[in-house]
Amino acid sequence: MAAGHKPVLLEEAVSALAVEAGSVVVDATFGGGGHTRRVLEEASPGRVVGIDRDPAAAGRARDLLRDERFTFEAGPYDEVLRGMVERGERADAVLFDLGLSSFQIDEPRRGFSYVAAGPLDMRMDPGSGVSAAEYLNTVEVAELIEALGRYGDVPRGEARRIAREVVRRRPLSTTTDLHDAVRAAVGWKERGGNPAKRVFQAVRVRVNDELEGLRRALQATERLLVPGGRLAVITFQSGEDRIVKRFIAEREGRCVCPPELPVCVCGASPVFRRGPVVRPSEEEVGENPRSASARLRSATRTSEPPGDV
Ligand SMILES: C[S@@+](CC[C@H](N)C(=O)[O-])C[C@H]1O[C@@H](n2cnc3c(N)ncnc32)[C@H](O)[C@@H]1O
Repeated sequence: MAAGHKPVLLEEAVSALAVEAGSVVVDATFGGGGHTRRVLEEASPGRVVGIDRDPAAAGRARDLLRDERFTFEAGPYDEVLRGMVERGERADAVLFDLGLSSFQIDEPRRGFSYVAAGPLDMRMDPGSGVSAAEYLNTVEVAELIEALGRYGDVPRGEARRIAREVVRRRPLSTTTDLHDAVRAAVGWKERGGNPAKRVFQAVRVRVNDELEGLRRALQATERLLVPGGRLAVITFQSGEDRIVKRFIAEREGRCVCPPELPVCVCGASPVFRRGPVVRPSEEEVGENPRSASARLRSATRTSEPPGDV
């Protein structure tokens, strides 16, 4: 059963958002509302918008709706953020705390966990898109090999064996079916942990279109933030971390003019200025092992116009 979600890098993320009296803050991944609650309690925002595509998160946001500063938007964050931009809204701070909440991981019926038996679903919004079972029962072997490598860093040889085993065992309908297929294909590694972990991650990222959604959301955030506005992103795995790192690096618009030129002629214009990368303390990892792989990346919006999409 779901025991609750411990917010990761809570103090550090809220501090990176630099909320001032009257600020408009967007929590793009509301989850259990850990970060939102802290912002509402300890800063003095004018408005906080919580977003989540999981209908169960909307239920957890209900008590907060009594606070007139808070509103909740159900849906994928890239679509909600784009809608805000189109309506001419602006924000002073936007937070992404990526991946899954403990509410989702610890609920076997959602199908995210490779250690608990449940239906092979893995959709953050079970009412839209295709489930993990539908995906795995129809995907071409070559595409699955590619997805396991791209979204789960599964080594090529292992990915090939797993993909063939999945296809041989179709139809799959439970998390146990997928776990058994992985074990039959690559066995149990004594070092490096259970190989099913990366496979489940890859399938989940693919089924929820997580990386493309994140790219679109960062582009919308660039348009939504006011000059001086803050972007803060907590990542948990290499694929999403690479996207955030590259996005900030590209938007920093480093000047590439030869050093002998007295003024910049290359047109470099920083749209964001990068902040430090923050990792959880040993103490936090000890108290909450799920925080171990977390990285907080942040950036401050400049007054330059947004880059090309
Ligand atoms: C790690 S949890 C956030 C936890 C939250 N910060 C807290 O402290 O309670 C991530 C949440 O983001 C949601 N989420 C992930 N990707 C999303 C997307 N593309 N659009 C909307 N919500 C998303 C998930 O459903 C999940 O509830």
